Amino acid sequence: MKQFLSVHDAPDLPALVAEGLVCKKNPFARKQLGIDKTLGLLFFNASLRTRLSTQRAAQNLGMDVIVMNVSQDSWGLEMLDGAVMDGDKAEHVKEAAAVVGQYCDIIGVRSFPGLADRDLDYRDEVIGQFVRYAGVPVISLESAIRHPLQSLTDLITIEEYKKTARPKVVLTWAPHVKALPQAVPNSFAEWMNRADVDFVITHPGGYELDKQFAGDARVTHNQREAFEGADFIYAKNWSSFTQYGQILSRDRNWTVNAEKMKLTNGAKFMHCLPVRRNVVVMDEVLDSPDSIVIQEAGNRVWAAQVVLKRMLEAL
Ligand code: CP
Repeated sequence: MKQFLSVHDAPDLPALVAEGLVCKKNPFARKQLGIDKTLGLLFFNASLRTRLSTQRAAQNLGMDVIVMNVSQDSWGLEMLDGAVMDGDKAEHVKEAAAVVGQYCDIIGVRSFPGLADRDLDYRDEVIGQFVRYAGVPVISLESAIRHPLQSLTDLITIEEYKKTARPKVVLTWAPHVKALPQAVPNSFAEWMNRADVDFVITHPGGYELDKQFAGDARVTHNQREAFEGADFIYAKNWSSFTQYGQILSRDRNWTVNAEKMKLTNGAKFMHCLPVRRNVVVMDEVLDSPDSIVIQEAGNRVWAAQVVLKRMLEAL
């Protein structure tokens, strides 16, 4: 594997998921693979799970890890090629990415969208510029429009907990107090559309995802109808794609609660975390035995480990 930016870098999904579960069974089997290799993790935005799980995965493979909070600790980076750098940005990503590539064998990058300019965000320039200029393999730790390590984790988790060969998986929009990116739902849809699952998306009108991610998935504005017979409920808030970055609804009728979960086929509740309790989902669901959010977060290690393993094997 030369890069990990989207589902398109994982053409053999069932094999990748199975290999992730093998890593989980025996985390240190390939401890020699990463000896004398360094992973650089660059964060333009906050993280708990991605940062710690990717470090842990790299350590399981014997790698050294360097972590930098770029926005806080480094020079302001200019991302635009051809820019006249007479503003507040002190360094161009062309040099910065290439320099980090001198120190690291693999680089992971996290950057969020501005949610002001859709065309700009959907060009996904930060991760793209690192791919262009780093000179080493790049892993997306969540970009402006995708979160592939989260989606691989989610698929591994569904594989672990499914009770039928082809489970019904529902992605439901839920309310939130802030405007959030579409990266997680985009990616989740992109991965579920490639997986062997019955995939349904439910959201209020105006929250349609970009067609390149939603694909031909069934979409309904009726959340209860979507929940009927579901095996997995995956809740997430996102801001509008069509009225870009806007909050169109804060309707708490979309909050996931126990009464709605009763409509399902004993569904497991999933969320990428962090989650706003009693806004996105009620305590009664999150604290119930059907919630697998902690196990899901635990699986972040195995998703990162299988990706790093494949990259190290290809160096
Ligand atoms: N789910 C997820 O990516 O969590 P963090 O933002 O804490 O890394």
